[in-house]
Amino acid sequence: MLDQLAPRGIGIFETYDSSIAGDLFEEEEQAVVNAVESRVDEFRLGRNCARKALEHIGAPQRAIPVGKSRAPVWPNGVIGSITHTGFYCAAAVGWRSEFGGIGIDAADNRPLPTDILEQVTSRAERVWVQKHLRSAQGHHLAADSLIFSIKESIYKAWNPITGQWLGFEDAFVVVDAGAKTFVAELNKQAVGFPTRVTGEFTYDESTIVSSIFLKL
Ligand SMILES: CC(C)(COP(=O)(O)OP(=O)(O)OC[C@H]1O[C@@H](n2cnc3c(N)ncnc32)[C@H](O)[C@@H]1OP(=O)(O)O)[C@@H](O)C(=O)NCCC(=O)NCCS
Repeated sequence: MLDQLAPRGIGIFETYDSSIAGDLFEEEEQAVVNAVESRVDEFRLGRNCARKALEHIGAPQRAIPVGKSRAPVWPNGVIGSITHTGFYCAAAVGWRSEFGGIGIDAADNRPLPTDILEQVTSRAERVWVQKHLRSAQGHHLAADSLIFSIKESIYKAWNPITGQWLGFEDAFVVVDAGAKTFVAELNKQAVGFPTRVTGEFTYDESTIVSSIFLKL
């Protein structure tokens, strides 16, 4: 999935196999000391994917603690993103000298509850979702979950760079379903982050993966 989206210079690792979750560094363990078992497993798998992704760009195998706003704290000079669903986990990393923001998000490829859809989309985005849900039934893309995933990718790229909150209403997403690309216009400005970002997505029967890789 992610291998179809990541440009040259990005290190990725993705898996559907939760049994490969490795050990945590001491600094990382603190983050899940009071967490339920399923959350500890998910966190360990994410850190393990991240370390394997770091290996691909020749970055050091260090602890990746949890930072401000819960974003991962990457080794010096590195930027990246982690995502997990119940079935799938992935990480993508790159050098800060080459990338100005990285956000990846995986979502289950199934429709969102209506109340959630209304919270995370604008009216125009919902019009697109309705249209696309009808035309996409043949290839099973949950268009509503795709918009949700794209917005979470945007936030994961935005927050570590700007240190700011970005709400679901702060990005307007336009999807090109055929090309599997999207453009998002942000109505918030922050130093170091563009107000217009583009990204890509892919999906299979069970999972949608969206991504933003901002090249410098
Ligand atoms: C942070 C958030 C995007 C995570 O998405 P999610 O679908 O719930 O969960 P995922 O499994 O895909 O991703 C979780 C991972 O995101 C990463 N993450 C968490 N907070 C983050 C942040 N502020 N910045 C970057 N990455 C973050 C972490 O690596 C986390 O995994 P970990 O805790 O095991 O390290 C989501 O919970 C959230 O807070 N959303 C509200 C903000 C938003 O999406 N706005 C839309 C703007 S258009």
